[in-house]
Amino acid sequence: MTAKKGFADRLKSYQERIETALDRWLPPARIVPTRLHEAMRYSTLGGGKRLRPLLVYATGEVLGIDADRLDGPAVAIELIHSYSLIHDDLPAMDNDDLRRGKPSCHRAFDEATAILAGDALQALAFQVLAQDSQMHTDPAVRTQMIGRLAEAAGSGGMAGGQAIDLESVGKKLELVELENMHIHKTGALIRASVMLACLSQNPQDSAQRDSLDRFAKRIGLAFQIHDDILDEESETAVLGKPAGADRALNKPTYPSILGMTESKQRAQELTQGAIEALLPLGESAEPLLWLAEHITQRNT
Ligand code: IPE
Ligand code: IPE
Ligand code: MG
Ligand code: MG
Ligand code: MG
Repeated sequence: MTAKKGFADRLKSYQERIETALDRWLPPARIVPTRLHEAMRYSTLGGGKRLRPLLVYATGEVLGIDADRLDGPAVAIELIHSYSLIHDDLPAMDNDDLRRGKPSCHRAFDEATAILAGDALQALAFQVLAQDSQMHTDPAVRTQMIGRLAEAAGSGGMAGGQAIDLESVGKKLELVELENMHIHKTGALIRASVMLACLSQNPQDSAQRDSLDRFAKRIGLAFQIHDDILDEESETAVLGKPAGADRALNKPTYPSILGMTESKQRAQELTQGAIEALLPLGESAEPLLWLAEHITQRNT
């Protein structure tokens, strides 16, 4: 078996693992309020690349942490991410009708249900971190994880980045402003994925954590630049969300500010920088090296 094949198999098995863990935590659709529970399940299960959970599990492999301990953090991050996508697609935000190859939540249900589904998924994420029975047992560590995820999801992280995104429509941002927006709206949750795995290490190694944090910051920005590139270069049928949506909405993106060639170069440099950040970890960093490649060569 080649190393690449081995990696593809591991990705698939982690994707199955997170699907099962999410299914376990999401309220059953038959329980009242059924429509809300259906919407939560509709937007969370059966789709998406699961890159954030993959980052949690891959970081865990690098640090030698048992995957059972990481299901809680992986579920929590993916719940926050799924909520962010539901709200991102709402008419008040990007007004997109398609997500993960099917009608977006407010199209399949209605706007009020989509807003509530997002709210409830966000609350469930923190419930998981507080209550999962297999995670790190030290309450101080749990509190740190909850704080870390809250920071990454809140106005100093994803929600703040989304606010900057909406305020910037139709404006010509400076490159540093665009970078700041991307670091918040997307980078923060990616960084939290790696950091929650680091917090699960017992005892924690701060030098390893710093290298992994540098990796996460760089790959998070590269990830959103690649998302902007795909919006321009890919097709709706492949993406499972509307291609060309950024240009149609006059969103500031890397290609619109730097041009396509320079955007690709920037994504490439950041990926290289991410890989370099892993050097102190030696061969043990391999799962994250593969994942970095996977993230920046993806076509959806
Ligand atoms: C899309 O994220 C939104 C961004 C932050 C760019 P993903 O590309 O990870 O979406 P899914 O989870 O695979 O659908
Ligand atoms: C969204 O960025 C980032 C989020 C926090 C959801 P985009 O608006 O570019 O994400 P897509 O392209 O709709 O997935
Ligand atoms: Mg958006
Ligand atoms: Mg969007
Ligand atoms: Mg996008």
